[in-house]
Amino acid sequence: MPESKRAKAVAGTNIALVKYWGKRDTALNLPATGSLSLTLAGLGSETSVRFAHDAGGSDGRDRVLFGGEPAWPLFANRVRRFLDLVRALAKIDLPAEVATVNTVPTAAGLASSASGFAALALAASRAAGLRLSPAELSALARRGSGSAARSIVGGFAEMAAGTRKDGSDAYAHSIADENAWDVRLCVAMTAAGEKTVGSTAAMALTERTSPYYAAWLSTVPGDVAEAKAAILARDLARLGSVAERSATRMHAAALAAEPSILYWNPATLAAIATLKELRAGGTSAYFTIDAGPHVKALCVSADAAKVAAALAATPGVVRVLTVAPGPGAQIMSED
Ligand code: DP6
Repeated sequence: MPESKRAKAVAGTNIALVKYWGKRDTALNLPATGSLSLTLAGLGSETSVRFAHDAGGSDGRDRVLFGGEPAWPLFANRVRRFLDLVRALAKIDLPAEVATVNTVPTAAGLASSASGFAALALAASRAAGLRLSPAELSALARRGSGSAARSIVGGFAEMAAGTRKDGSDAYAHSIADENAWDVRLCVAMTAAGEKTVGSTAAMALTERTSPYYAAWLSTVPGDVAEAKAAILARDLARLGSVAERSATRMHAAALAAEPSILYWNPATLAAIATLKELRAGGTSAYFTIDAGPHVKALCVSADAAKVAAALAATPGVVRVLTVAPGPGAQIMSED
């Protein structure tokens, strides 16, 4: 391969409407069930990767920058382990320089690992001289973070759990692209700062200790099918009720773990109440909640300003972002 090839990629984060919460294999990061999500415009990650003899740090290891600064060790090591997968695939043995900039508040339950590993998978594979198919790229991104597999795809994406042991059939594909349905997600941030328990650890604890874990898993395939049908019919009320029950059942399973995992805060509940009031008044908006206290409301674009204003006026909500569906991961530049 040519020395010093650099590739830069961008990916949007995604929010699951049918959640992924549990693994069938931790080594290959295979999900226990499918999931379904919406990739977002504007909120995401830009990542550039260069493999070269001189790209590493003074210790010869991959140099990992985040927001222009050396990344913290936990993050840097997660990136290095991911780069090892790419080096093995491409049969190269060069250190890399990786620079990531996020437009998502990191680790705040806004799924920055989803856009981060999707952008990294695309940039690193191209910089290493690989040309992966969308399915292969999605399966590669999954190794970094399960939700990242879905950010390879724009708009509404379905992630397959797959049945193969090697994980080659556990990747995301498109249900409807980012222009197919004029919906918005109003993200109500209900706290500043980092979440308390990361999703990987919380998922593992739920699998190990929650008496509701098996019941949770049993609900997911039906919810994926129902959500898919609702998207194809552009039926917001149907999609919204699946999204709400998927989120509450995922949180119920986590809440029943030992020790209990509770992501919600008083403003989370207040925001849910706001959406129920809006619905009672005839404005359709439906919540989902990830591994954090923030509330994301799904509505049609014509209602987004009203929904965002109601959420912003909710006690404890510190900020509301209104986001449109976005494209899948893309290459920004290569040289
Ligand atoms: C609540 O994809 O962060 O956002 O595969 O362990 O990295 P790992 O987990 P991650 O989990 C996402 C959990 C979720 C639901 C979802 O996005 O489906």
